[in-house]
Amino acid sequence: MTNTDTTPIQIFDTTLRDGEQSPGAAMTHEEKLRIAELLDEMGVDIIEAGFPISSPGDFKAVQEISKIVKRASVCGLSRAGFKDVDRAGEALKGAFRPRIHTFISTSPVHMKHKLNMGENAVLEAIGASVTRARNYTSEVEWSAEDATRTVPEFLVRCVDVAINSGATVINVPDTVGYSTPQEFFDIITMLRERVPNSDKVIFSTHCHNDLGLAVANSLAGVLAGARQVECTINGIGERAGNAALEEIVMALKVRKDIMPFTTGINTTMLNRASKLVSNVTGFPVQYNKAIVGKNAFSHESGIHQDGMLKNVETYEIMRPEDVGVHATSLMLGKLSGRHAFRDKLDSMGYALEAEAFEDAFRRFKDLADKKKHVFDEDIAALVDDEIVRGHDAILVKSVRVESGTGIKPNAQMTLSVAGEERSVRTEGDGPVDAIFKAIREAFPHAATLQLFQINAVTEGTDAQATVSVRLEENGRTVTGKASDIDTMAAAAFAYVNALNKLLVKREKRAPEPLSVAQ
Ligand code: KIV
Ligand code: ZN
Repeated sequence: MTNTDTTPIQIFDTTLRDGEQSPGAAMTHEEKLRIAELLDEMGVDIIEAGFPISSPGDFKAVQEISKIVKRASVCGLSRAGFKDVDRAGEALKGAFRPRIHTFISTSPVHMKHKLNMGENAVLEAIGASVTRARNYTSEVEWSAEDATRTVPEFLVRCVDVAINSGATVINVPDTVGYSTPQEFFDIITMLRERVPNSDKVIFSTHCHNDLGLAVANSLAGVLAGARQVECTINGIGERAGNAALEEIVMALKVRKDIMPFTTGINTTMLNRASKLVSNVTGFPVQYNKAIVGKNAFSHESGIHQDGMLKNVETYEIMRPEDVGVHATSLMLGKLSGRHAFRDKLDSMGYALEAEAFEDAFRRFKDLADKKKHVFDEDIAALVDDEIVRGHDAILVKSVRVESGTGIKPNAQMTLSVAGEERSVRTEGDGPVDAIFKAIREAFPHAATLQLFQINAVTEGTDAQATVSVRLEENGRTVTGKASDIDTMAAAAFAYVNALNKLLVKREKRAPEPLSVAQ
């Protein structure tokens, strides 16, 4: 089936819901708000802000994001039970365009082992949950979890019930990342052809990346007539992640010749969104990642460089500026004032509130005192850190480390824990060990260290260090991140950032098992 309908593609971002579900990714409330604001500004059509029944934190996130988002629909996830739907409806009350996204599994393996429900019970649950959701909003999305492993005839019946009960969007998840482009194309085509009234709803893709096919499958879905794509920034999400938003959007933009569709995304914000999500989750972006990787626009081989100098089109299919990557520019020095600093932040797309601006400016001055050349990357690391650490319950007030030949490494540290100052001095096998022991003493906890990693923000021996720390506690993992010109201070900040995220994770519990009739 050739698809000639060029209706714009709706971009549904689930970084704050499916993305936040990935092992190690935990976001604080303020970080979620910051990401939601950026997504809204970037032109995302629907922001899935959380799963309200899963925790008070998710409920609050959906509630607050509903209030601050200006143009996108805000969406809350819900299973098929009434309690889930009601909780989502309540959280979305303040949204300008609320959307309830309700789902239930439809594949034989999920129905038997996960739900312990037969086909009729599932069909009944679909009808009841979609009808219930329509009491709260006119935008109701229904998803067939594990759709790609569902018996086609049953999938048709499920979608039919969802549409008849009032669903306006039908989402077809490749939950386990099992499908292939041709198969996914065929599933969307089959549903559009066989389900009565399929032209009254929008079909949507939600592809996971277990076989590395999430973006290809999503685009195949678009070619088959899907007009909504669910995706996440940097492709974060359960296991191998979801389809990457930046890849979907740029593929559609660059290959308009064979995919004549538009999106509302301001692509020059993609790089910033990627950096923010990487900073907040602590997940580094791989160097060769399409669109937003550090090397995505670097040309190393002589032949390529020669070609680029003659004509950029020899090796470049899009311009770095199109995705918000600019040539590194030398910037402000220690004599630069507030005005110049604010101009610089504006040009980089950062809008900080008065207090955050003052903190960032103070840290910039400290940095400019210590570092001769302050680059855009330094400013980005500094401001992103400000956003990430700004509202933490545990803060490093001071850290002092002694190490070297002939002395036992030791750290003196003062932490502020919910406003109470705690000072300790500890020795360790090395300076980092001493710092981490000091944090453990000041704030006792059982989490174990899984990863300690240092990267340089820019070149040179005076470069800032970005440190990542991953902690694990009772099966929950979190990653903290921080940058500082002093590597030991960055290590302390990163560890404490991870601890703060652990506090957020502790609050999350698995939702009670679904009882459809509740
Ligand atoms: O992957 C999946 O099936 C999901 C659903 C909840 C849409 O995330
Ligand atoms: Zn998913």
